[in-house]
Amino acid sequence: MKSIPAEFSDAIEQVPSVPRIRDNSDRVRWFPELIRPSVRLDLLRLLESQIGPHLKDVRSPIDPATITGMKRNYSDLLPKSMHNSSVMLDQPRQRATRIARTTGLVTLLTSQSLRNLAERVSGFGLEPSPGLQVIRYQSSDYVGTHNDHHPEEKHLRDGYVDLQITLTNDDVERQYLLYERDGFFNQSVNVGIRSGVSVSVLPFWHQVTPLIAKPGREKTALRWLLLVSFVIRDGR
Ligand SMILES: [Fe+2]
Repeated sequence: MKSIPAEFSDAIEQVPSVPRIRDNSDRVRWFPELIRPSVRLDLLRLLESQIGPHLKDVRSPIDPATITGMKRNYSDLLPKSMHNSSVMLDQPRQRATRIARTTGLVTLLTSQSLRNLAERVSGFGLEPSPGLQVIRYQSSDYVGTHNDHHPEEKHLRDGYVDLQITLTNDDVERQYLLYERDGFFNQSVNVGIRSGVSVSVLPFWHQVTPLIAKPGREKTALRWLLLVSFVIRDGR
């Protein structure tokens, strides 16, 4: 197996300059096709062969009582609902984390150049040792509306920065990230492309629409998402 770059700067194309998130009401910066094509293929192979077997199915259906239990008109409340597979990569006792370390995936995701990019785009100083998770979306997989606010976690309750790397295989048609800006849920990005990197400052309302496969490729379409979550050190 080919080795993957140790520094994120060696895995990506030139990053266009964008306004810092902290100066702007748009909480997301999206860089489409940022991962170098050869690195994309190497990462997809690594993820599918090494991490894939350790994914856990995440199934959180909608409770029918959200409708049958309603007593008043327009009192609709929809808890987070989802259908995908994921595993954490920051738990040294877990096999997936150990594999991610020995294959170089953790080295890439915790590299200085990756944190530098997250700091530059967000405008916040960030602590090292980010949280690491991978999610795999297959055909029809999605995450319903939620905001990722963690008021019970002291280090997260005032917000945190996510850098997310998207990698899809060639069988994916589209998948959207929908999100809130200025109080309206009207922003959308097609994250179902070959590769991309997003930087966002959470919490804010968002959802990921069901993955749509190309016709006839429903069984093989995959989108991998590598999530790197940073605690904000300063600047608040
Ligand atoms: Fe989220």
